Amino acid sequence: MQDMFRFGTRLLMVMATFVLAQSAVAGQGAGSVIEGSKAYGLDSCVEPTPLMRKKHYAFLKHDRDITVHQGVRTIKHSLAGCVDCHAAKDDAGNYVPVTAEGQFCQSCHEYAGAELPCFSCHSSTPTKATKAGD
Ligand code: HEC
Ligand code: HEC
Ligand code: HEC
Repeated sequence: MQDMFRFGTRLLMVMATFVLAQSAVAGQGAGSVIEGSKAYGLDSCVEPTPLMRKKHYAFLKHDRDITVHQGVRTIKHSLAGCVDCHAAKDDAGNYVPVTAEGQFCQSCHEYAGAELPCFSCHSSTPTKATKAGD
């Protein structure tokens, strides 16, 4: 009985730690959209925000696969699209890479300890092809 109780307590502690860690990530992300980016003036992402927080990498990988392997171009979760909307301009009007210190993708990933192994090939600032009229 004593053992059961101890086990139960430990399980609860593990669960509580997990819940805290999760909400810390979500909390840090809340309002993390960067001033000076297109996203800053918009109400929503390409999916509902809670879903984006949880699943953006799954969306990205899925859409990468259908682009690279099946040649589908009309994807909803384009990496170039994320960068286009989430990259901010500095005071001089130049784009700051989304992977730079304190920027949208970088700050949350640093906090979460997640790597971003994409930008050795992909541009971390909007490119001419994706820049919509500015
Ligand atoms: C070794 C180079 C390389 C790396 C690293 C890489 N990609 Fe790509 N990716 C490509 C190429 C090449 C294409 C095809 C480009 C095209 O056809 O527009 C592509 C296309 C894509 C597309 C579809 C086009 C678009 O703009 O959205 C997505 C989504 C994507 N990659 C996501 C990712 C993600 C997420 C990562 C990191 C986990 C990543 N890629 C890492 C080379 C790379
Ligand atoms: C057309 C603009 C636009 C595009 C494209 C876009 N986003 Fe967003 N994104 C937003 C806006 C606006 C918000 C804030 C929504 C809110 O306030 O609830 C947001 C929120 C988010 C959040 C939650 C941030 C937080 O505060 O917790 C994540 C994560 C995210 N986006 C990732 C991505 C990724 C990854 C892509 C590419 C697949 C992408 N976004 C494409 C506009 C965009
Ligand atoms: C609200 C916090 C948050 C924001 C903002 C955010 N991410 Fe993430 N991202 C995460 C977390 C947490 C993970 C790790 C998830 C896991 O591995 O379970 C992750 C993982 C990823 C991965 C998978 C990496 C791998 O190792 O394969 C990609 C790709 C990615 N994010 C792209 C982006 C891009 C691009 C942006 C900016 C447009 C962005 N994320 C913004 C929290 C965020």
